[in-house]
Amino acid sequence: MDDNDEGYYYTGQTPFRKPNESKFRFHARRLISIQTLGRLEYTVEEAETKFNRALGPVELTFVGLGAVIGTGVFVLMGTAASSQAGPSVTISFILGGFVSGIAALSYAEMASMIPIAGSAYTYAYASIGELAAWIIGWDLILEYLVGAATVSVGWSSYMVAFFQDAFHVTLAKQWVNAPITWDGGNFSYTGDYFNAPAFFISVVVSTTIYFGIHLTARINNFLVIFKVIALVIVIFAMVPFVKTENYHPYIPPLNANGEFGVSGMLAGASTVFFAYIGFDSISTTAQEAKDPQVNLPIGIMATIVTSSILYVGISVVTVGVLNYSNLSGSSPVTDAARQTGMLWLVVLTELGALAATTSVILVLLISQPRVFYAMANDGLIPRFFAKVHPKYKTPYVGTLVSGVICAICGGLLPISVLSDISSVGTIFAYFVVNIGVIILRYTRKTVPRRFKVPGGPFIVPGIGAASSLLLLQGAKREAIIRLLVWMAVGLLVYILYGRTHSEINNPRITMDEPMQVLHENFSVDTVNYQGYTDDDLRQQYARQLARRMGYDYPLTQRQSAYLEDRMTHDFSDATQAGDGYGFGHERPSQGDDCTSSQGGIDSGHGVGVPFEVHTKQKRDSSSTASLRSGPKTPSSSSSARSFHQLQPPVAAAHYPESAYISPRAPPC
Ligand code: ALA
Repeated sequence: MDDNDEGYYYTGQTPFRKPNESKFRFHARRLISIQTLGRLEYTVEEAETKFNRALGPVELTFVGLGAVIGTGVFVLMGTAASSQAGPSVTISFILGGFVSGIAALSYAEMASMIPIAGSAYTYAYASIGELAAWIIGWDLILEYLVGAATVSVGWSSYMVAFFQDAFHVTLAKQWVNAPITWDGGNFSYTGDYFNAPAFFISVVVSTTIYFGIHLTARINNFLVIFKVIALVIVIFAMVPFVKTENYHPYIPPLNANGEFGVSGMLAGASTVFFAYIGFDSISTTAQEAKDPQVNLPIGIMATIVTSSILYVGISVVTVGVLNYSNLSGSSPVTDAARQTGMLWLVVLTELGALAATTSVILVLLISQPRVFYAMANDGLIPRFFAKVHPKYKTPYVGTLVSGVICAICGGLLPISVLSDISSVGTIFAYFVVNIGVIILRYTRKTVPRRFKVPGGPFIVPGIGAASSLLLLQGAKREAIIRLLVWMAVGLLVYILYGRTHSEINNPRITMDEPMQVLHENFSVDTVNYQGYTDDDLRQQYARQLARRMGYDYPLTQRQSAYLEDRMTHDFSDATQAGDGYGFGHERPSQGDDCTSSQGGIDSGHGVGVPFEVHTKQKRDSSSTASLRSGPKTPSSSSSARSFHQLQPPVAAAHYPESAYISPRAPPC
């Protein structure tokens, strides 16, 4: 599609089944419908009034660091060093940083081009199409929500250690561990009750987020400063205790269990990859960022560079101070600090880890509701996820739902299961974003990008996509299987809900579309709306819907019931939209000044008002020939309630595709 004005605002893709289009082609076409940048741009303008633009480049970097430095370095480094990579865990960190850095470049380009809250989900919608977007949106739940649950378990283990070291209090084992574990082949019961600290921290953090981005950003800034300073102090304090013999052998030989060796180092890279997850959270706050096209790329790149440096530093000293074989899988940095004999350093590592993990949970739980927000705006999940709190300006429904699910998962599941599934989900998202950059370089050549990945469209994103596949290939089999199961569930949800509710494929019939129907049967120039009953108009509307759904006549009972439902839904939305919407009988031309077009479009942007007809004369009066209350109006006869007798339109419509206006009108 062109990037000229028409391509920008008009989808050019009719949501209707075209004359002579086979059902298969029609449904296949819907799966690859893309979001136009015009519509996305419009979404931003609409959101301007809802969110606060509070985040500059420094705050955005803090958001990134807030999401990134946490369980990966403070917990999972132990597993990677002791059983996968040995001292070469440092190289694992460099490899993980490399893959993430490349994905970060692609994210930065996308963010500079499409600064919308949905992150990879939105990028996929704009480049590959609706089905891919849905898959990624569903997948991001693994990154953000399951990621936050993973980190809450890490928080819990550090909390236990902190109570022990600082206050000599031992928390009851049954209440700080998950009741479910994975023994490599099966889930089994551990005998413990519940991971209460993990549950607790998710609840506290979600409640904080509920009260607004300002408060959350301030808390996050504090936590980030604290954790970065703590890490720097720990690195420098441990250097004098490094024993060079701990670096030999740097890559321990492959053993009978298949651990170590170069393959172990690569496996370590997929484990510590988790440590970089979260930089993309920055792109979910796009609508709360000042000058997002510039500041998002800065934040993303600054986050990756800073965290890589810190990770390399801390891993070098950790395996240098304590032999890798003695590192625990739960608190490696504290183990190494304990080796120095300095209790203050031990406690500092614990406090640093608590601050780090808290901020990670905070940012991931900020990100998830914002992805839900974008998906709900597009109609792929129920609209209540797009509700923004009038006072706190946060997507509060998504915040509460995410918080509750995260708390329950953290309370019940072990860290290994959660982190594996979160990592594979994220790697998959990176893969799609890299591919998306390549696609958009060709399909949206002229759209301005304030940041571009260096080296042309292929090299960097191509390497990024290939390395994501490599990491996926190195991931555990069961993690891949869980990813596939999760995706299968997602597809089912899409088939049952998203497919029939998506805004682009099911835009509520607005403005000129009923005009076109009237145009089919009557001359638009002579039409006098006052001559038609509500039933006539309802049937016109139903025919449009039937065509949009690709139904053949005669309709089945099920199809007729669907039309009825859909109309009830659309009409009730129209009723809620309140006064001031409607359309006259003049179709506006491009460039019309909407505000001054008497009798032209008078629709609220993006508020689909399906079918409300005013005569020119009656426009300003209170009586309108409207279907405002749809099927519930007394004038709707019972025969209109069932559409299975519905007849096709007299003549098939042949409109140029560009005649279909996108679901959201261009801003006037
Ligand atoms: N990167 C984040 C962490 O390591 C998710 O905790």
